Amino acid sequence: MQFPQGFMWGVAAASYQIEGAAWKDGRGESIWDRFSRTPGRVLNGHTGDVACDHYNRYNEDVSLMKELGVNSYRFSIAWPRIYPGGTGQVNQRGLDFYKRLVEELLENGIEPMATLYHWDLPQALEDRGGWLNRDTARWFQDYAVTMFQELGDTVKLWITLNEPWCSAYLGYGSGEHAPGRRDFNSSLHAAHHLLLAHGLALRAYRDLNLPGEIGITLNLSPQYPASDSDADQDACRRADGFLNRWYLDPLFTGFYPQDLPELLAPVAEKIQPGDFDLISGPLDFLGINFYSRSVVRAAGQGGFESLPPAGPVTHMGWEVYPEGLYDLLTRVHRDYGPIPLYITENGAAYPDEVQGGRVHDPERTAYLEQHFAQAARAIAAGVPLKGYYVWSLLDNFEWAFGYERRFGIVYVDFQTQKRIVKDSGRWYQSFLKGLARAQTL
Ligand code: FCB
Repeated sequence: MQFPQGFMWGVAAASYQIEGAAWKDGRGESIWDRFSRTPGRVLNGHTGDVACDHYNRYNEDVSLMKELGVNSYRFSIAWPRIYPGGTGQVNQRGLDFYKRLVEELLENGIEPMATLYHWDLPQALEDRGGWLNRDTARWFQDYAVTMFQELGDTVKLWITLNEPWCSAYLGYGSGEHAPGRRDFNSSLHAAHHLLLAHGLALRAYRDLNLPGEIGITLNLSPQYPASDSDADQDACRRADGFLNRWYLDPLFTGFYPQDLPELLAPVAEKIQPGDFDLISGPLDFLGINFYSRSVVRAAGQGGFESLPPAGPVTHMGWEVYPEGLYDLLTRVHRDYGPIPLYITENGAAYPDEVQGGRVHDPERTAYLEQHFAQAARAIAAGVPLKGYYVWSLLDNFEWAFGYERRFGIVYVDFQTQKRIVKDSGRWYQSFLKGLARAQTL
């Protein structure tokens, strides 16, 4: 496998999933604190109160990254640590935590990549309508500016939002994620305000003239038609439109996909003049989170559904389909390029167990190796891929599945907080060593 010099090899994580210390140093309540306390919402009633206790153990975790040999770390900032009330008064102790973390990373030669929003909206803002309220985009801009001013000289890679489709649809449409609302049209309104928030933060970043780069991360998944029939082809177009193009098009072409009037009609009233100028502001890079694909067939009146996975699946039930990564990268490059791309998340959950002090996870190693190979194939085909972040460094709070789904290349014993590097972590370490050796020859 060939990767260019200077390629970013990282691990990724998110604040609510790892930090714990949910009530420490003045942090405000987030929608995930509230949601996880609502009976029936998260498996086993798990919460992020303690999680991996990363807030208190970040030194140890950065040492682990160093030991693995990664050169970058993608983390997210908890908005309610910075603005406990969502807006208004800044919490200095929250800011100080991220300053300490960034300092620790830089001292260890690890490039920080900071995501501003990985789903932990301050509950105070949800109480004012959350992402259904257009003002939330403005409050996000204020928070983003604070972070740019405080960390903009040391953090050179910024991501505004992580996976707005999930925030919008899972949060406001299906209700599987916080805040748990269930109204399809609301999810389209939330999506529009999320995109607007992105656009406002992007413009603010440009205005500050900082020495770094900024982008957004989307969860993209290639959709394949179940058959050659017109009905299935059309279902596939709509699935792709709903999941992928609904976000890619406004960012890169300046409007929502024209072929989905059924989605456009409910959101039209929320669009104001100038919105798309902000949303389609030039990006420095696009972050892509890739886990799986779907095979889609027509269902019901103009609907679509995914077929059950044909191949092997992970503990999430997601099909392992590495070629999908190649198809996706080349497609995004062809349709929306030339824009530098990062894989900001890729990885797999398996039901790991400790045996004699070790964790043998050959499926995860195979998953990573096969996906790295597809990334190398895409680079060879001309895709400007700049980096690859494995999800995740640690086993962590996997949203509605609590601690039941382990994605880490490092095992976490949630009783003792002991970390054990899994075999896949050791494999990643030796893969990176091999690359370094080859590149210095
Ligand atoms: C992504 C999320 C990330 C993690 C992985 C498994 O959708 O961005 O936080 O939960 O899935």
